[in-house]
Amino acid sequence: MAVHFNNVHEMLLMARRNLSQDNWDYINGAAETETSLRRNRMSIDSLAFRPRVCRDVRKIDMSTTFLGDKIRIPVLLAPMGSIHRWTPKGAVEVDIAAEEFGTINFISTVTEPSLEEIAANSPHPKSFQIYVRGDDDWIKALAKRAVDAGYKSITLTVDSSFYGNRERLSPTQMALRNVPERDFQKGITWDTVKMVQDTIGDVPFIVKGIMTGEDAAIAAEHEVDCVYISNHGGRQMDHVYGNIDTLPEIVAAVDGRCEVIIDGGFTRAGDMIKAIALGADAVAIGRLQAWALGAGEAEGLVKCLELLEIEIERTMGLLGVTNLDQLDPSYVGPAMPVRLPHEHSAFPHLPDGRIP
Ligand SMILES: Cc1cc2nc3c(=O)[nH]c(=O)nc-3n(C[C@H](O)[C@H](O)[C@H](O)COP(=O)(O)O)c2cc1C
Repeated sequence: MAVHFNNVHEMLLMARRNLSQDNWDYINGAAETETSLRRNRMSIDSLAFRPRVCRDVRKIDMSTTFLGDKIRIPVLLAPMGSIHRWTPKGAVEVDIAAEEFGTINFISTVTEPSLEEIAANSPHPKSFQIYVRGDDDWIKALAKRAVDAGYKSITLTVDSSFYGNRERLSPTQMALRNVPERDFQKGITWDTVKMVQDTIGDVPFIVKGIMTGEDAAIAAEHEVDCVYISNHGGRQMDHVYGNIDTLPEIVAAVDGRCEVIIDGGFTRAGDMIKAIALGADAVAIGRLQAWALGAGEAEGLVKCLELLEIEIERTMGLLGVTNLDQLDPSYVGPAMPVRLPHEHSAFPHLPDGRIP
């Protein structure tokens, strides 16, 4: 597939042209008043950079590691269900792009094809994300299948006891997704975390959907390998804090005991660099990934990551750092946002500001 976009604005417009209204609403929408979605952006926009000058930035290293594996830039591909509804090969497209670019992707329980088929696509490291859709034996069997298929880590999503009320979805779309098996999510406790860990043994374990320092501390006590800060892109609980607002308390609570990653509203390089400065090990992208796939499948996603890489290099250079390890909280400070936040507010040159 030939990809014809030169910047993220064009990418977004192309995705809109290619996607049906149902898919567009599913990707972009969030729960109820969509306050959590907007707060994700608002919290990122409420930080300004404090650049340092007169530093030699001719050589910039943007790479880092995630759970021991090298990634080209500190950007991961968040788990997304239903990808097969708008890309022919479903999550395989994401896997192709992750391998070609050099990052790590999360594969959702609720996407196609099967976890084994996706694993067979490439040997590069990826994480399998579990949604609970059955009893303890069901969970253990799924975790074991993912380990046997070669997934490098297992992720358990814990923020979805109830399905977020996404009012942009038509009743038919809601019914399609609000299946009775989803009720098993209501039974997830820290015992479930322990059970999955016991099932997968030494395979790294990530808990996704942590929103407070208190829960991050409990996760660290459970010796998880990574706390994944997420409010599900505002698609689950409405009226929570923007994720980057919770990052400092979570980094403090974890206190170096495991890795910390974050998602929610991250679409531009500056967003990602702010999170790294505040202590995140990497940042994951959800909607940006979906738009890139919509614009050009795997090739579109690679192109999107390449554009991000150029932006990250420029941002680091202008900030006066040549390595992600040099970033610390002194590089950011509080600031007034300059525009009202929404899912497309990081793209100010869209013809109508926001694409309905
Ligand atoms: C279309 C779509 C599908 C998603 N499906 C899943 C999923 O299957 N499992 C999961 O843990 N999170 C899922 N999420 C949440 C993302 O993993 C991630 O937390 C969120 O998108 C980050 O916010 P952002 O979209 O603003 O980047 C989904 C998000 C989107 C946009």
